[in-house]
Amino acid sequence: MTRRDFINRTSAGYAGLSAWGLLRAAPAAAFSLPANGTDTHGNGRRVVILGAGLAGMATAYELGKLGYDCTLLEARNRSGGRVWTIRGGTSETELGGTPQTSQFAPGNYFNAGAARIPHHHQLTLQYCRELGVPLEIFNGSNEAAYLYNHQPASGLTAAAGGGATQPAAVSPLANRRMRIKEYHNDMRGYTTELLAKALDQGQLDQNLTKEDVEKLVDFLKNEGDLNTAHLYKGTNRRGYKTQPGAGPTPGEVVDPYGLTDLLRSGFMQPVFYNVGDYIYEQQTTLMQPVGGMDAIPKAFEARLAGKIQFNARVTELRKTEKGVRVVYQKGGKPAEMEAEFCVCTLPLPVLKNIESDISGTVKRAADFVPYIKTGKIGLQFKRRFWEEDDGIYGGISRTNMDINQIWYPSYGFMKPTGVLIGYYNFYGRAEAVGALPVAERQQLALAQGKQIHPQYATEFENAFSLAWHRIPHSEGGWAMYDDATRRKQYPALLEPDGPIYFAGEHTTYLTAWMAGALTSARRAVEAIHKRVG
Ligand code: ALA
Repeated sequence: MTRRDFINRTSAGYAGLSAWGLLRAAPAAAFSLPANGTDTHGNGRRVVILGAGLAGMATAYELGKLGYDCTLLEARNRSGGRVWTIRGGTSETELGGTPQTSQFAPGNYFNAGAARIPHHHQLTLQYCRELGVPLEIFNGSNEAAYLYNHQPASGLTAAAGGGATQPAAVSPLANRRMRIKEYHNDMRGYTTELLAKALDQGQLDQNLTKEDVEKLVDFLKNEGDLNTAHLYKGTNRRGYKTQPGAGPTPGEVVDPYGLTDLLRSGFMQPVFYNVGDYIYEQQTTLMQPVGGMDAIPKAFEARLAGKIQFNARVTELRKTEKGVRVVYQKGGKPAEMEAEFCVCTLPLPVLKNIESDISGTVKRAADFVPYIKTGKIGLQFKRRFWEEDDGIYGGISRTNMDINQIWYPSYGFMKPTGVLIGYYNFYGRAEAVGALPVAERQQLALAQGKQIHPQYATEFENAFSLAWHRIPHSEGGWAMYDDATRRKQYPALLEPDGPIYFAGEHTTYLTAWMAGALTSARRAVEAIHKRVG
């Protein structure tokens, strides 16, 4: 059977074939939209698009190429939605919050929402190419960053064998920072040593030949940096006590931690998971636009001149005989717009509070698909002590404290000052921290962050924080499906509801990614174009 026969006989879709490695992943240009300018039979048909985030703007951009007449209604005074970069002068007032204005110095910023692009998000990368958005590396996993397990001394634990409780022993590796490279290399060393021992004693798998075992042991020796006796005695992969350099000594390797100490360290908790290796979306290489993620929405916006109405908050979405009628607030007054089609990209927590004729199934999706609570804080420091003192250039430190993660900027290395992300948290932690007034969030970020970086105490300048579930016009981080909501609610968002189409990350399996917004836009465009064609 030839390769083509196989493809024909299995009649697998593109995804199926590429999963089998039979096709190379499609460049975005190969997605099924007609090529630029070759098909304009949209012929001035009117489409109203709700929301000028990435989904809405990509929809308008692609429909524009096909000759449609699009208007975007955007509640904010900016485009981009959850693709938002905080710089000096950025202002926001959360729902139930007080106004906040960033005091960051010129050149300092952090990406409040979307902040990284995986190398396999081809559509996102293709739009950056097409729109001329320059990219740079986003350093996602940095082995020089820290892990910090906070373990209170007062914790009680059940005594072995049941019965009375006794105070939990505080791990000698708790309440202190450890370089990620130390933990990873020590665990690799010890686990490979154990496996090599079992193999040396012929205890593992009797089906392996002697040569198989030798090869496997070779692999383990390299993986764990075992010595000739197949023992793990530490490795320079985890760093030096004194660095090699000029002079008579070769540099002194740091001793490894003990296996039992590591096993009791708390680092097996999910917050310390080795995402840089284990999570497909977080493996190197990751990218970011130079100068801030909002370069992407700005590039779309520049190509949609005159088509976006800002400060236009939609209040009603109606079906009419000819299509749709949208009522919105403009400068405090109601205004209306009619169109043949609507592409609604509003996040579901926003959609559910709009008066509308959308179907019961879509309404239920809006009611029952939850959005994650998530927050970030940007902290500006007088100097980049993480670079100068710790040798950390980008990457993420992880802790089980409320701050959860510290992100070091992957831009502006060596600049005098810098902004790092002092927390990035989710679920209950994001809810608890996000419920605090901004001054208290800042205090919490500083107090906890200081455990990892004592320099916080003297170098801090100012902060800007946000809780996405409290940000007007978003009201959540991203859609969170489980099997039940995928089965019961998701399908309603994939079909047109009469003249209304839905797009946005929540209408895809790429939730929480710009790639979701962009691919949903192309899906909506394709569906509309097929319908009028
Ligand atoms: N895509 C989001 C992130 O990168 C969830 O953190």
